[in-house]
Amino acid sequence: MTILVTGAAGFIGYHACEVLLARGETVTGVDSLNDYYDPALKQARLARLQGREGFSFHRLDIAEADALKALTLDARPDRILHLAAQAGVRYSIDNPHAYARSNLDGQLSVLEAARALGGDLKHLVYASSSSVYGEREGPFRESDRIDAPVSLYAATKGAGELMCAAYARLYGIPATGLRFFTVYGPWGRPDMAYWLFADAMVEGRALKLFNEGRNRRDFTYVDDIVAPMLRVLADDPARAAHRIYNIGGSHPHPTADLVRALEAALGVKAQTEAVPAQPGDVSLTYADVSKLAADYGYAPTVDLQTGIARFAEWFRDWRAQTS
Ligand SMILES: NC(=O)c1ccc[n+]([C@@H]2O[C@H](COP(=O)([O-])OP(=O)(O)OC[C@H]3O[C@@H](n4cnc5c(N)ncnc54)[C@H](O)[C@@H]3O)[C@@H](O)[C@H]2O)c1
Repeated sequence: MTILVTGAAGFIGYHACEVLLARGETVTGVDSLNDYYDPALKQARLARLQGREGFSFHRLDIAEADALKALTLDARPDRILHLAAQAGVRYSIDNPHAYARSNLDGQLSVLEAARALGGDLKHLVYASSSSVYGEREGPFRESDRIDAPVSLYAATKGAGELMCAAYARLYGIPATGLRFFTVYGPWGRPDMAYWLFADAMVEGRALKLFNEGRNRRDFTYVDDIVAPMLRVLADDPARAAHRIYNIGGSHPHPTADLVRALEAALGVKAQTEAVPAQPGDVSLTYADVSKLAADYGYAPTVDLQTGIARFAEWFRDWRAQTS
């Protein structure tokens, strides 16, 4: 396979490139390396990919439609794995336009690049999010309505799905959207709770438990995202097919479970501070993964304790190297 990976220096993109390169695939990576979180972490991920057989990297903002299209026509991938996005719910309160640029303009640029490839493109797989479901009881099913987002991030991810559905139908693009649920692991994201908590714990600061610790999240270890995502990517759906799948642990945990797993893994007792819910946050994420299980044999394998222990081991090394 020849694959264009957007967001290649991001958390999930980096892990996907690692697996693809280990399999001997040809990967063209694209990322803007923006400073939403420490670009040194993105550079460090990238450094592990650069120089590897089959890998090339282009620093590019995907909202630059002409540049992305030119690069795509030059690389002629038969698959596109589109992971670049402005992620995070809280950041959208102060930086709404960053979401429009990456998740709407950027999504459209990727679709235009896919359109330009015509019949040579066998599959476009792109990241959506559990946040599209808004505030509701679980488990969340792909057939649920997604018209009540509680953050701009969620609204742009939902809009991205609709844009893709239209392009798939109009231009015959075989496309699949994957709704990820709270992904964590080594080389993860410094803006997410597991990292913020780990940082606070090793520095002896109190952790903020939003919504007084009542939030529940369907934590998903990164390998339980990447392997099935690449299985889907390798598939050749019919032209014009547009499908959506949940991909998540399907086992929501209260924040207290995350704190306990980190305490065990880091050997540190957490000090906690209960604070009100944050605007844009939902109280529950919970994936029904029966559709992905039926079509692709999906079965998550890494539980929260095991996954957090792997994250913590990497996190200690990362802190030691960077502090
Ligand atoms: N990690 C999760 O828990 C989670 C959950 C749901 C959905 N997602 C989605 O999965 C995808 C990957 O997320 P991640 O956790 O790896 O996040 P990440 O922020 O680590 O990776 C995204 C990468 O995209 C790049 N990027 C952002 N805007 C860009 C632009 N305009 N042009 C080029 N590059 C750009 C960033 O520099 C970053 O390296 C995103 O689409 C995100 O919305 C992630």
